[in-house]
Amino acid sequence: MFKRISHINGVEDDGEILFATQFDYLFPEAANSKGCLLPDSEACTAALVNLGTAMADDELPAAPPDAFASGNPAVFTYFGQFIDHDLTARTDREGSVTRIGNGDPVSRLDPALVTANLRNGRRPQLDLDAVFGEAPGLAGWGGASPASSQSQVLYTSSLDMHLYEHGARRDVIRGDRRAALIPDARNDENLNLSQLQFAMLRFFNEVKAAQNFGHDVENYIRARQLCRWAFQYVVVNDWLTTVCDPYVLRDTLANGPRFFGSGAGRSKAFMPLEFSVAAFRFAHSMIRPSYRSNAAAPIESIMDLLDFASPDKAANDRFFEPDASGQPQLKELYAIDWSFFSGSGPNVQFARKIDTKIAKGLGTLPFSARMGDPVLGHLARSNLLRGKNLSIPTGQAMADAFGVTFLTPNEILTGEDAGIVDALKAGHFHHRSPLWYYVLREAVVQQDGERLGEVGSRIVCETIVGMIRDDLNSYLNNFHDGAVSENGIDVKPGPNGQIATIADILKFAKV
Ligand code: HEM
Repeated sequence: MFKRISHINGVEDDGEILFATQFDYLFPEAANSKGCLLPDSEACTAALVNLGTAMADDELPAAPPDAFASGNPAVFTYFGQFIDHDLTARTDREGSVTRIGNGDPVSRLDPALVTANLRNGRRPQLDLDAVFGEAPGLAGWGGASPASSQSQVLYTSSLDMHLYEHGARRDVIRGDRRAALIPDARNDENLNLSQLQFAMLRFFNEVKAAQNFGHDVENYIRARQLCRWAFQYVVVNDWLTTVCDPYVLRDTLANGPRFFGSGAGRSKAFMPLEFSVAAFRFAHSMIRPSYRSNAAAPIESIMDLLDFASPDKAANDRFFEPDASGQPQLKELYAIDWSFFSGSGPNVQFARKIDTKIAKGLGTLPFSARMGDPVLGHLARSNLLRGKNLSIPTGQAMADAFGVTFLTPNEILTGEDAGIVDALKAGHFHHRSPLWYYVLREAVVQQDGERLGEVGSRIVCETIVGMIRDDLNSYLNNFHDGAVSENGIDVKPGPNGQIATIADILKFAKV
């Protein structure tokens, strides 16, 4: 079934490929044990709301460096969001299962009800399905089925990805109401991610151009495989290496996930709810209050960059102008110069630290379906209440299940703002912390906000490395192919085609 999902408009019924795969708990015993969960009380809900409120800071949009900056370039935030959208969707979408907005009381759901009814709208394999969609049904190419008409939107007749590109003016292609014609509409929900989607599409086109089978279909198939491997390699060896505790990553790679996947004795594949609803949302705290796309572009607040393509907001017109056929496309002024997001040059803007604060704009999300709702419109509140609603175990329970030392109440409280301390104490959250909050606080205490701490790293590494290891098509299971080595993925025959980092992808993509 084709559906369009986005934070912008909820679920629509056409235009997007949607997969349905299984969610489950990494530690079902904990999810079913009262002592491992937040209390199912209104007082707990109220304390979570107060905690979320205290987490949204008042920093005004400013040029870098800012008070919250980490040493990690801002591309790590949006590459993370791109990974998120490749792996997981709909924990906030199934109104029949999870309800936290519109004044609904937030009760703790029975985990059996959650796993029976909540479906992941993604195929969690890091296979770039947000780029390729289902991948064109090559046999039915050009036919009239929905799959092939979707293919015709995504691809040119020679199987390149459709792009809008005129000199330095670069955009994904757009249709009615400036909607991006891409497989996952969430990848157009902010300008930075939309431009990364463009870069990934262009990366594929460059990789395909570098193949020499003499036939578009064969070049396409090999290029798709190489792009997937390159993406997976970079996720592990650049992104995870940067945002996770390196010891935990090395341990997971060397000794295999111990709690997740086939190696841990779970017979069915699933996406862990602890990952989707809590741990992998850590990067919400890395989002800056403002960004600039390039030297000529003005500094724009994150609030304005969110939902930037919606024609319902008149101010968004400034981002667009018509192309030769009259179709609005992004102006050259806003095309991202990646030296502002990646590398170590003088232009680079840094991601914020992984800490217990989120940028101001994220407390008033401009997405129409969420706007004005005191819970859904506030990212910290919605993360915290979603966690309670979906019976996500506390940080301390997760630490216990992993067999690692958990943060003491003192470590949780010391150095925090008064507002946060008050909310933590009111909910007794310094003894039983909401997992999302715990993961953020742990990053501060153990890694000075530069990367995740032990529990956060374990959940993220177990899930991602586990997914890649369990997939026979992944780079980890294809070292027999000449393109795959410990040093990277060779995406073109001959020299100068080895991809090992995000920066390599951007360079090869020529963006
Ligand atoms: C400006 C950037 C971003 C915005 C505006 C945003 C907004 C949101 C919103 C509104 C939700 C649903 C919250 C709920 O009601 O439960 C969500 C879910 C989520 N976000 Fe973000 N997010 C951003 C960036 C990121 C990044 C950088 C990451 C990770 C690297 C991330 C990871 C996730 C995950 C894993 C989910 C759950 C997805 C699912 O339903 O399975 N987000 N985000």
